[in-house]
Amino acid sequence: MKAIVTGHTRGLGQAMASALLGRGIPVLGLARSACPELTEQFPELFQQATVDLADPDALQRWLDGNVLDSYLAGATSVQLVNNAGTLGPVAPLGRQESDALVQAVNLNITAPLLLSDALARKYQGQLRIAHISSGAGRSAFAGWSIYGATKAALDHHARCAAADCVSRLRICSIAPGVIDTDMQATIRRTSAEDFPLLERFLALKHQGELTSPADAAERMVSHLLSEEFGKEAVADLRSLPTA
Ligand SMILES: NC(=O)c1ccc[n+]([C@@H]2O[C@H](COP(=O)([O-])OP(=O)(O)OC[C@H]3O[C@@H](n4cnc5c(N)ncnc54)[C@H](OP(=O)(O)O)[C@@H]3O)[C@@H](O)[C@H]2O)c1
Repeated sequence: MKAIVTGHTRGLGQAMASALLGRGIPVLGLARSACPELTEQFPELFQQATVDLADPDALQRWLDGNVLDSYLAGATSVQLVNNAGTLGPVAPLGRQESDALVQAVNLNITAPLLLSDALARKYQGQLRIAHISSGAGRSAFAGWSIYGATKAALDHHARCAAADCVSRLRICSIAPGVIDTDMQATIRRTSAEDFPLLERFLALKHQGELTSPADAAERMVSHLLSEEFGKEAVADLRSLPTA
């Protein structure tokens, strides 16, 4: 197997890349910056490419280049993890910054959909696609209409792609739980006026109730590699049987 992980430079993405590499699975990371720690730790198995996934033209140019084709050569199976994501503008309608809104839709929806389609075209073997979703796509939170809508789109993309019944393809959109990453720090910096649930998220951090990226990644990767993966098109990491 070879894996492709977007947003591998920090947070959950870095931890998932590390967990895959630790199992001897090669990883190609895609993000705007690089991750020197993974290069240092796994010089033989890890490679990375710099691409702004919020820019669909830049992503398409990268897909049209030869990095991905070279990487896929000789793979016995491929795992794509669409992990890179952003909260986007946190505000009610009428107060959402338009550039941030477009960037969030491009990064959270357009990039995973383009990557999924390109891989299914370029790679004809067994393909597993995981979208990293969120509970925010399944419950309505004030202030998070953009973030919630983008994650709900990933869930429905997985349901419809699963309905295509392509036998070599397994796909699942998975909510990972609440994880102690930069994204949570960003959430804690939003204003209570824009995000009425702010106190709840401050308390989760204060009470030590956030999952560590390493723990979430271990569980996630065990699931990605398991026979159970893709049996349901939409899942929550917290309610999966422990692998
Ligand atoms: N943390 C949570 O509690 C939580 C809960 C539910 C769901 N999730 C989901 O889990 C995923 C990972 O979240 P996280 O908390 O680990 O986020 P994070 O710490 O903010 O990391 C985001 C990653 O995405 C990459 N990224 C951001 N913008 C990008 C762009 N324009 N192009 C390419 N890469 C980009 C970043 O790399 P560069 O900056 O180097 O580009 C970074 O590696 C996201 O999809 C998020 O929605 C997180």
